[in-house]
Parts: sequence; C-alpha cells; structure tokens
Amino acid sequence: MRSVLASAPAKVNLALRVGPPRLAGFHPLDTVFEALDIFDDVEATSVSDSSVTLSISGLGEDLPVDSRNLAVSAALLLQERFAVPTGVALRITKRIPVAGGMAGGSADAAATLVACNKLWNLDLSTDQLMELGAELGSDVPFCILGSLAHGTGRGEVLRPLKVGVMHSWVILTQRQGLSTPEVFREFDSLMDYVRIPETLVPDTQDLQEALEDSDLEAVGRLMVNDLEQPAFVVRPDIREVLRAAQEYGIRAIMSGSGPTVAVLADDFSTADAIAGKLSRQFPELTVLRANGPAAGAHVQVVR
Ligand code: C5P
Repeated sequence: MRSVLASAPAKVNLALRVGPPRLAGFHPLDTVFEALDIFDDVEATSVSDSSVTLSISGLGEDLPVDSRNLAVSAALLLQERFAVPTGVALRITKRIPVAGGMAGGSADAAATLVACNKLWNLDLSTDQLMELGAELGSDVPFCILGSLAHGTGRGEVLRPLKVGVMHSWVILTQRQGLSTPEVFREFDSLMDYVRIPETLVPDTQDLQEALEDSDLEAVGRLMVNDLEQPAFVVRPDIREVLRAAQEYGIRAIMSGSGPTVAVLADDFSTADAIAGKLSRQFPELTVLRANGPAAGAHVQVVR
C-alpha cells in the first residue's frame, strides 16, 4: 500500500455549556456535537525516509505545515508512539473553514490518524484512535466518532446519541477566524463564578432527549452557546450576523468558539432557500449548505 485517502467531518455544537476553568486551565464542558457533511480530506502517502511533510490545498493555504499543524502532530504522535520506521507525505484538501469554531484543525488530525493507522498497518481500534486524538485537541475524538454525541470533560468524553431525523443546516462563515483561547479568556473575564455555584451550571439533558425524540421545535428552543457573549466582545459583528440569521429557520446559533453562525432549517429545501437569501443579504460572508449528522473520520480509498 502506498497511499491512503481519509476524510473527517466538521462539527457544530447544538449546545455548549461552559463551566469555570479547571483541569489544568481547561473549561469543563457539557456539549452536544453534531458532525456535518463538510469534510476535509487527508491523503497519506508513504515515503522512503522518516520525514513527515504536509501540503494544503483549498482553504487554509496560509496555515503552518510544520508540527504547529495538528495533522503533522497527529502523524508524529503515531510514528513516535508505535516506533514506525517510515515517514509520510500528507496532502490536505481543506473545505472546513479555518479557525471558524467547526473543528477544522481537529478534523485534519482525525483524518490523519485514521489514514496513517491504515498506511502503517497499526490496527488501532476507533477507541484507541480517539484516546490518542484527545492528546492532540479536545475536538479530535468527536471528529473520529462523528454523528451525534454528548460531550463532557473538555469535550473529549463522548457518549453517542441516537440519531433521529436528518438536520439541514445553513452555515455562515467569516473570512477572518477567531482564536479559541482568546474567546475562553474573554468568557473568564465576563463570568462571576462566585454567584454561580457549579451545581447550578445547566446541563444539556433536555436537548439530548429532544434530539433522540426528533422534536426539532424543542431542539431549536434548547440550543444554547455560552461562548456567544464572550465572542461578541472580541468580534461585535458576530452579534449582527446572528441577529439577522435568527430571522430564518428554526434557530440560529454560533458554532463552538465562533465566528461561524449555523442556522437549523426545517428541511432540505427550506435550507436551500435560506442559503440563497442569506448569501444575497451577506455578500461578504461565505454561505454553505450542510446536512447532519454525518459520518466520523473514515478511509475513502487505499491504493
Ligand atoms: O483542545 P484544544 O486544542 O481545541 O483547545 C484550544 C484552547 O482552547 C485550549 O488551549 C484552551 O485555552 C481552550 N479550551 C478551554 N477549555 C476547553 C477547550 C478548549 O479553555 N474545554
């Protein structure tokens, strides 16, 4: 085998509840992830020496291609942990917005883990890959698992949810991304933890039930993102986009740490119509159509 092509999905958080920082600076989360059918592809080709190299096409051509890139870190992690003697040339075709709150970097790490697992005949299970993924970033395990899941810890402790109906989404992405640590720092400075005992931090139980019951009205009512307010402080324009998007579909929400805004629509054709209207209303934004829940990271082609 010389080359393996693998793909991994973007995610949206239908709910993102954030607690006070602990766990070595990380914030405990109670979140519901949904994988969307916007995939990054990673082609992993074996090389004769031990080098790990990366090239990127599509979005993200300005991203670093050394170990600052999660895809390179993922390949190096497997190579070191399992004493793999050979290297790999990675080629990413990027479709997930960069620094958009949709786990684009994590998806690249997830696809790289899955591709190199196959290329190097490591035979690691999905659970083992998810455990390794958690060492790279909080969202990597979900990008491997895909579909619909409840996440706790820093987002890496996952419980799959039963999938009901398909969800049709309209995704509004900004040219300028947003730094996740910066949004979490702003969250800390806005919160008054003294007045909010930990036991009162709300969970996502009702939303999980609404999803499993395919009750889209209730899903819309229960969607929530605790990082919206801090993200608005860093980027006031997100509030305007979210307010305008709220006029459409069942409910609009900021995805993850932003700045991407996601609109949940009633069905496929309504979402198509909303996408058309929003792209006319916001010519400076990129408007995408997506459906979920989508598959987790998987091998596409081996040759
Ligand atoms: O895990 P990941 O690399 O995606 O996290 C990026 C940064 O986001 C972390 O270094 C941390 O500053 C912040 N973060 C956090 N709490 C989480 C997840 C991320 O504070 N649960």
